[in-house]
Amino acid sequence: MIHYMKLGKMPRKPHTAFYEDGKLLMEQCHTREGFDGPHSTLYFRTPPTDENAVEQIKIPGFCPFEPLKEQPLYRRHIRTQDLKLSGDFLDARRVLMFNADLNVSMAKPDKVSKRFFCNGDGEELYYVYKGSGRLESQFGVLSFREGDYLLIPRATPYRLHFEGKPEFLVFEGRGHIDIPKEWRNRSGQITDYAPYSHRDFRGPESLLNYNERDHGKAPFRVVVKREDELTVHMTKHFPFDVVGWDGCVYPIAFHILDYQPRTGTVHLPPTTHTTFAGNGFVVCSFVPRKVDYLEGAIPCPYGHASVHMDEILFYVEGNFTSRKGIDSGSISLHPAGIPHGPHPGTYEKSIGTERTDELAVMCDAYKQFKLTNLAHDLEDKDYHMTWVEKEGE
Ligand SMILES: [Fe+2]
Repeated sequence: MIHYMKLGKMPRKPHTAFYEDGKLLMEQCHTREGFDGPHSTLYFRTPPTDENAVEQIKIPGFCPFEPLKEQPLYRRHIRTQDLKLSGDFLDARRVLMFNADLNVSMAKPDKVSKRFFCNGDGEELYYVYKGSGRLESQFGVLSFREGDYLLIPRATPYRLHFEGKPEFLVFEGRGHIDIPKEWRNRSGQITDYAPYSHRDFRGPESLLNYNERDHGKAPFRVVVKREDELTVHMTKHFPFDVVGWDGCVYPIAFHILDYQPRTGTVHLPPTTHTTFAGNGFVVCSFVPRKVDYLEGAIPCPYGHASVHMDEILFYVEGNFTSRKGIDSGSISLHPAGIPHGPHPGTYEKSIGTERTDELAVMCDAYKQFKLTNLAHDLEDKDYHMTWVEKEGE
């Protein structure tokens, strides 16, 4: 949904006969919003509809997950550093927070998967916290590295291939996730004053070629999520043997350090750092930057009561000047209804500083985030009391 792209071979006109070695290829239109939204058209050697078995599965903690029954309103700190997981990119994924518009998960896989995943409930936005690899989908192969966002359109079959043990923060949006409309002109082009350009977004580099070592033998499995149920669809043929496609729907990658941050004479609100927008939420990137330059400006974020939005912040690296007790991998949740702000001492200390090296991903959502039991288990339970100045400090 960034721009038009094409890869491989296709006929000059859509919906016309297209052959390879005398065999008629199967066209498939991947459409959104009926036939009104962005779409792509793919050409398959074998129709991806030849499933011969179906079964339901559950992945506890991911689908379904256990909501925390009682959640008093206070500031939370969830230590994802303490989350130990094993398995492929689905088995090693856990939902930590959710509302009606999105789920927020962590995934820490240590096994490469031969199965694919297709999320029929919404888009997925990964932040690659650690590691590198490639995202394989019916649209081809897209390489990723630490610091990349990966945006996977709804109902796109994909899987993650990697070396070692990567870690991902995953936003699963029930509606759409896209770049904010404010950064596009009336033709859909990214404006010249947006914090990124078309050149910063990468699409698949090559088509996905089947090989038995990476993809295994039949039956090939695609795990489909729809209305929070998982169903495995099995096929006799490798279902993503595509000779070409074109259109505006396909997975994209964007590196967080390609985000061009803004600084003002005085502190600008986080809205300035909006990178992606969904139904009822935004995702913002805090990247190293020069800070506010008016004499006497206070670069540290001011206290605020953002009365309509819950705010979560995933800390990646740098000195988190406004927060104590937070480490890389921590998630803070500052809920609407109560104010939040910098820890005592950090506000004063920031005066006169010229830059920040913080790297963090923020998500602001209109609907209240509910925790899962797992997130509650990972909580630093004293966090909400750490604003109290102790005697002698
Ligand atoms: Fe805030």
